[in-house]
Amino acid sequence: MTINDPIYKTDTLIAENIDAYLDAHQHKSMLRFITCGSVDDGKSTLIGRLLYDSKMIFEDQLAALEADSKRVGTQGHEIDFALLVDGLAAEREQGITIDVAYRFFTTEKRKFIVADTPGHEQYTRNMVTGASTTDLAVILIDARKGVLTQTRRHSKLVHLLGVRHVVLAVNKMDLVGYDEEVFDRIVADYRTFATSIGITDFLAIPISGFKGDNITAHSPNMPWYTGTALLPHLETVEVEDSREQAGPFRMPVQWVNRPNLDFRGFAGVIVSGQVRPGDAIRVLPSGKTSTIARIVSLEGDRDLAVAGESVTLTLADEIDCSRGQVIVAAQAPLEVADQFETTLVWMDEQALIPGRPYWLKIGTQTVSATIQPPKYEINVNTQEHLAAKTLDLNAIGVANVTTDREIPFAPYAENRDLGGFILIDKLTNRTIAAGMINFALRRAHNIHWQATDISRDHHAAMKNQKPAVLWLTGLSGSGKSTIANLVERNLARMNRHTFLLDGDNVRHGLNKDLGFTETDRVENIRRVGEVAKLMTDAGLIVITAFISPFRSERDMVRGMMQPGEFIEVFVDTPLEVAEARDVKGLYAKARSGALKNFTGISSPYEHPHAPELRIDTTEMTAEQAADLIVARLIP
Ligand code: ADX
Repeated sequence: MTINDPIYKTDTLIAENIDAYLDAHQHKSMLRFITCGSVDDGKSTLIGRLLYDSKMIFEDQLAALEADSKRVGTQGHEIDFALLVDGLAAEREQGITIDVAYRFFTTEKRKFIVADTPGHEQYTRNMVTGASTTDLAVILIDARKGVLTQTRRHSKLVHLLGVRHVVLAVNKMDLVGYDEEVFDRIVADYRTFATSIGITDFLAIPISGFKGDNITAHSPNMPWYTGTALLPHLETVEVEDSREQAGPFRMPVQWVNRPNLDFRGFAGVIVSGQVRPGDAIRVLPSGKTSTIARIVSLEGDRDLAVAGESVTLTLADEIDCSRGQVIVAAQAPLEVADQFETTLVWMDEQALIPGRPYWLKIGTQTVSATIQPPKYEINVNTQEHLAAKTLDLNAIGVANVTTDREIPFAPYAENRDLGGFILIDKLTNRTIAAGMINFALRRAHNIHWQATDISRDHHAAMKNQKPAVLWLTGLSGSGKSTIANLVERNLARMNRHTFLLDGDNVRHGLNKDLGFTETDRVENIRRVGEVAKLMTDAGLIVITAFISPFRSERDMVRGMMQPGEFIEVFVDTPLEVAEARDVKGLYAKARSGALKNFTGISSPYEHPHAPELRIDTTEMTAEQAADLIVARLIP
């Protein structure tokens, strides 16, 4: 979720190209803020108004100004267009599409980046992306409408995402006759809600974006309002950069710069604290220690770098350190864990499927993760905790997450960069959720793997064989069970120790609590995978016959086995053929509508892209198929 980088780049660009600009503006502080609210609350008008009234400067004009060798200042140069910063280029490269427009403007006092996000409900995702890096949120309310569900949702998100300052801009005051009572009532309403979600402090300003009331200066139309106008507030509100800079040193490694054998630098953005040459550091999760040799920058070596800066560090020792690892102060290491309680904001049409592996991107690293069924969902209007089996589009909920390896982290409340993550669907590459780590679960530390004396190798050696999983996948009626049965008979004849796990049978016992929804099928395969794994540990050759319609779960089981042990066999029977056979009469039932979620008819089957073996059942008999599979296992 670090969308700092492109912005940082643009900023640097301006600074590097234009000396005059540098002179005048380098030392101004920066405020990142977001505008949010319902559709039609007047966000675009407000942003337009801010840009217009602040007489902001942008790049092209700066070049022209410099050529004229005029002193750069904001006065007298009225510029009518916003410089848009496409802050998400980096994410788009990875096929993740989130649309937030970043607009850059500057006044004499301060530089600003506004994350401008659409207000429709389906764009909650954009709001989350925008808010995750901002210092302040302007929550717009249409004075004629008052506090709406969307106002509550956005406020909740703003608070969850750790935005420290909230401005309640009651807009369109001109349309309610600049009425003080209307304003007071809305503010009181909002205060009740805000308090219930933990927002203790906000500043309410009555404005009209359209007419320009209380934007840059106090409006004569509302003499009853004695507070500050919006822009002066934005120019002076305290930005607490110091909070990050005061913390212990942390830098997630973005890439390793190794132009030649003599130089190895670790590049990244410092997300907390400061660093100097000679500082003792630790690389997490490995725990290896060293000291900082140099802080390299384009302008030469530096004595000090602080939070927010991009740097390249070199270390005194040749220790392992790669992208995704975090370099931290040796004396103040981060926690490392693989199970967390998290708050999730679901942002995709497709609901959460507990147990399915997703990509989890945190800091500069991406790991595989599964989500447990939510503990609860949060009703954004009432703050009630609701029981939930899944999370749908725009739902906010709390759920435990397990990652496939240990990751260094900080709770989101402590550090947004080290505790914020996104979830990405492995197949579609879409960003499906934003998450915040609340804390690590100790369970992982309390349940230890019990070392046993008879190892898996020993088990296998006693059986005089190499364990394996022959994973048959295909439509119902494709012939999986028939072929699997023949394979087992052949192997038994060869004195191999085997076990056959068949869908229909396992669903009578271990998995009799599961049906055929997507979630249940995912759980079905997860359990079968775990059982198959235990059986390979026992030295067995396991043959499985499950439809296993989803690539993600087949790949998950593959990942659970030793390399080379998982043999995916695609029993490829066209739907027409399986349906024509209809051995169990289920296709007829499914077509008539009597059987729901039937694979191939009303539930998808994702065929394997690269199975170890593909069996075309229209070309060969079950016996020939079995021979082929056995030959693949024992050449
Ligand atoms: S899986 O999709 O979760 O892998 P599994 O292989 O365990 O399915 O079970 C499939 C068997 O359950 C089918 O061969 C069929 O006999 C039976 N069945 C009952 N209802 C359905 C359904 N809706 N879709 C597919 N198979 C079903």
